[in-house]
Amino acid sequence: MLGGGECPDYWEWSGYTLEKLIITGGNRLTGKVSVSGAKNAAVAIIPAAILCEGVCTIDNLPYIDDVIVLKDILTQIGAKVDLTTDGKMVIDSSGINTYRANYDIVNRMRASYYLIGVLLGRFGKAEVPFPGGCDIGARPIDQHIKGFSALGADIFVEHGIIKASAKRLVGAEIYLDVVSVGATINIMLAAVKAEGNTTIVNAAKEPHVVDVANFLNCMGANVKGAGTDIIRIKGCQQLKGCSYTIIPDQIEAGTFMIAAAATMGDVTVCNVIPKHLESVSAKLVEMGVTVEEMDDCIRVKNNARPKKVNIKTLPYPGFPTDLQQPMSTLLSIAEGTSVITENVWEARYKHIEEIKKMGAKVKIEDRVAIIEGVPKLYGAPVTASDLRAGAALVIAGLMAHGKTEISNVKYIDRGYENIEQKLIKLGADIVRVKE
Ligand code: UD1
Repeated sequence: MLGGGECPDYWEWSGYTLEKLIITGGNRLTGKVSVSGAKNAAVAIIPAAILCEGVCTIDNLPYIDDVIVLKDILTQIGAKVDLTTDGKMVIDSSGINTYRANYDIVNRMRASYYLIGVLLGRFGKAEVPFPGGCDIGARPIDQHIKGFSALGADIFVEHGIIKASAKRLVGAEIYLDVVSVGATINIMLAAVKAEGNTTIVNAAKEPHVVDVANFLNCMGANVKGAGTDIIRIKGCQQLKGCSYTIIPDQIEAGTFMIAAAATMGDVTVCNVIPKHLESVSAKLVEMGVTVEEMDDCIRVKNNARPKKVNIKTLPYPGFPTDLQQPMSTLLSIAEGTSVITENVWEARYKHIEEIKKMGAKVKIEDRVAIIEGVPKLYGAPVTASDLRAGAALVIAGLMAHGKTEISNVKYIDRGYENIEQKLIKLGADIVRVKE
């Protein structure tokens, strides 16, 4: 089985400054916060733009490191890319003249695997180094490979580079052995340019899978069924440029909802699609938190220690693994003992050792975390090991007594736009300093 990459040297890129966040906990978060565009949609839709040779304009992108890295990747292979800090990217991919992506850049993010699908779709060939990204357990891409092979591509790995080539891509029926967001999207990306029909069975149903399908259709593709577990794609020869606005980030929204509950706050999280957050809202309500859904906002109010709950992470519409770390941190101050089962990523408990330094009482047994709620956490120096662990530690810092210093902030910046500015506006006491 092909294995995934890790990102031990993520912050060692040239020009990178090590920074930390210092949070003085105890402030109640109140007010309104607006959620940025979805990172996980952005990291697929930006590369998808090169499936056409025209100009695509993508709006509502989060201004985060993963988006900036993708701009660099596309520029390096010959596209003209403009990105503004308000989240608009214009991609002219007419000048792309290579199917080879460079290790130095690709190593900087996990979702660079989408380059395989789009380069295969565009050139019938792709050479892409194994992706980087967060270390949250083994990150195989065998289902991506299975899909590309079914479409007629030959794939092998040489010196850490995935090499794929196909004389012709031909549609096929592909059954995914595991529900994989990445494989579902990657196969869609290649299949829109294949001859004939492709069916993906046991497809992922995440909102960003639907968003990518909508973007591909906006470019003239024919993708049906995204959001269900069977996606049908009719291949076409040419796609055209288009303008597209991506969906709000469900995980960022969930992070603010949890932060509101954790600080006994009253926060209205705006620019969200409440349906995407149903599993999170349901758990918060079970914990005794008040959640009020409006058209494109969710108000979260809390005035007591949350009640214990049990959570199992699952593919959408189940509880998202990406919010397990923030949620388990909130549960560390719940009344009673909560049990979390992490079904998606086996090593997604690295934040637990850190919150234990702050007074949390947690036992990990394989994929299960048993969290015995304590009345309070206490500030301490802690280290973010990955993106969502970083978000969890921010929540821990906000609800703790005293000062928390979080190192490796660059992980957090991969996925959250202006996190401390947004929290400061809600009343948090956070400063960013150089390490
Ligand atoms: C995406 C999200 C990530 C989220 C995850 C699960 C992006 C950029 N990242 O990651 O934030 O945590 O979905 O919701 O969208 N698997 C295989 N073989 C494969 C592919 C996956 O066995 O070929 C397994 C993985 O080990 C994991 C599970 O399937 O246990 C889900 O992985 P997948 O949905 O593919 O995650 P990503 O797309 O990498």
